[in-house]
Amino acid sequence: MGLCDLHSHVLFGIDDGAPDLGTSLAMLRGLVALGYDRVTATPHQKAAQYLPTARQIADTHAEVTAALAAAGIVVELGLAAENYWDDVFHARLAESGAPELPRYDGGRAFLFEIPNAELPTRFEESLFRIATRGLLPVLAHPERYRPFWDDFDRAARLAQSIPMVIDLAALAGHHGTKPAKLARRLVEERIAHAAASDVHREDDVRLAAEGLAWMKKRVGADEVRRLCDENPRQILAGHLPEN
Ligand SMILES: [Fe+2]
Repeated sequence: MGLCDLHSHVLFGIDDGAPDLGTSLAMLRGLVALGYDRVTATPHQKAAQYLPTARQIADTHAEVTAALAAAGIVVELGLAAENYWDDVFHARLAESGAPELPRYDGGRAFLFEIPNAELPTRFEESLFRIATRGLLPVLAHPERYRPFWDDFDRAARLAQSIPMVIDLAALAGHHGTKPAKLARRLVEERIAHAAASDVHREDDVRLAAEGLAWMKKRVGADEVRRLCDENPRQILAGHLPEN
């Protein structure tokens, strides 16, 4: 199988990702050229910043899917969201069965992000409670959160209960020195479960390619396969991959 991307902003006009349909197609064409055959669009769900409605997201997804077919670009475009840890997120979680919480393929796994500067209060406890409800929280770009820069063990412990999906561009050093250091250590010590493009614009595809090249050189093609194909598919199916 080809590569499988768990985190991207390829749907146009609904967050800080692709601004127009042409850019959506260019980004997806670029990802296909890197070997991806499955890309999940994860538009932001962040109160007061980017909060496109479910209808807007579904309509844009349908429009991009149709345009892909018309352009002969062969890729499966999945749909989820990047849920920010805010009041909207918690209100959605509070509902029985959390029907409004956007998940991967409508299953039990969902992507989320937290503030960069500090971890939420009682973070692990909250995640445990979410897990007891049959949901699988998937942490986006763990390398970006400052508390983990000085406390690798906390990140490593957390990775025993939830999947962690680093950004490929961070591995290549494009998100700064400390995120690069943490992302690389998470890969080298087999803590991270997956790596994703998190593409926001066309040029980000090149940065993702650099991250893939870094992985291939430093940890080998088998690890690329594991972190960018096998494990992402397990996560989509709602499983925490073994490390
Ligand atoms: Fe993102």
